[in-house]
Amino acid sequence: MNILVIVGVLVVLSLSAVEGNWLFSSRKKTRSPVIFVPGNGGSQIETKFNKPNTVHYFCAKTQNDWYNVWLNIEELIPGVIDCWIDNVKLYYDKATRTTHNSPGVELRIPGWGDPFVVEWIDPTKNSAGSYFKDIAKALYDMGYERNKSLRGAPYDFRKAPNENEYWFKDMKKLVEDTYDQNNDTPVTIITHSMGSPMTLHLLQNVSADWKKKYIQRFISLAGAWAGSMKAVKVYAMGDDLDAFLLSGKTMRAEQISMPSLAFLLPNPLFWKPNEVIITTPGRNYTFAQLKEFFTNYYSIAILNSKVNHPTSGQRQDRKI
Ligand SMILES: *[C@@H]1O[C@H](CO)[C@@H](O)[C@H](O)[C@H]1NC(C)=O
Ligand SMILES: *[C@@H]1O[C@H](CO)[C@@H](O)[C@H](O)[C@H]1NC(C)=O
Ligand SMILES: *[C@@H]1O[C@H](CO)[C@@H](O)[C@H](O)[C@H]1NC(C)=O
Repeated sequence: MNILVIVGVLVVLSLSAVEGNWLFSSRKKTRSPVIFVPGNGGSQIETKFNKPNTVHYFCAKTQNDWYNVWLNIEELIPGVIDCWIDNVKLYYDKATRTTHNSPGVELRIPGWGDPFVVEWIDPTKNSAGSYFKDIAKALYDMGYERNKSLRGAPYDFRKAPNENEYWFKDMKKLVEDTYDQNNDTPVTIITHSMGSPMTLHLLQNVSADWKKKYIQRFISLAGAWAGSMKAVKVYAMGDDLDAFLLSGKTMRAEQISMPSLAFLLPNPLFWKPNEVIITTPGRNYTFAQLKEFFTNYYSIAILNSKVNHPTSGQRQDRKI
């Protein structure tokens, strides 16, 4: 979930990568090629649009060429961020049970297979947008080659696996192609956060023979196996991505529209029903009372996010 803080893990991992030979395939004396699978917020997104209307007069109505919206720090400044939110948020269609973009907006995830797009989420290499770059550097120093023995598997992290079906097909093929292009060497998959359950979903849906042939190992960094408390926090308060210019409250309008956030909610296999997971001055909510939290608190939060207009001068205090 946390897109910017994996530094500690990366340091440890890159040290062991340099010192040990754990990335060598045990079946062959060749390096196991690596595929990075990012977490929520960890892929670049490009957009173009021709919108019937905008949220402010200063928001662009048309954008003819694909351009990067995630994570373009310049767009996240107060005021302008509302235009941005309207371009990346999703709308849920109760009839089809799927989500869609704002009217007139097209989005795509660039760089399939290329690790660069997960080394840097911000293609301008603004330091706030660095992601797998340190671990990638450690691997390049060992002789890994971008696009050949080191690959990236970005996806539309706004959506849960049920709306990312194309990714599972593409990922299966990427594993097979990477194996082929590296003299039939089984692949190492390195995942972060939401990338771990995404990958698990794939591995549970392929045959044991396929895994035996193509997968050397699966390394999960802070995998959100049982969901994440952070998802609860985001529903309640939003997430400022640890960026000091950003307000979690403003970001929340976009974040709570993502089905992936619901996919990442704490899992009942891990959290006990009577565990208090949300504390407010008025009352506590246990895990079993999550539904009440959504009806009591969260309906209010949606109203608040509507009145929390940057120019309206209104500000509701955080409830939690
Ligand atoms: C990797 O592949 C992408 C697209 O397939 C290409 O744009 C990029 O230049 C390649 N990078 C290298 C280092 O070959
Ligand atoms: C699982 O595999 C079946 C067929 O093997 C395929 O139709 C389906 O799309 C796969 N699902 C995922 C999530 O990969
Ligand atoms: C909420 O739970 C905490 C412990 O998790 C407890 O200290 C506190 O008194 C509870 N508050 C209410 C309002 O029940």
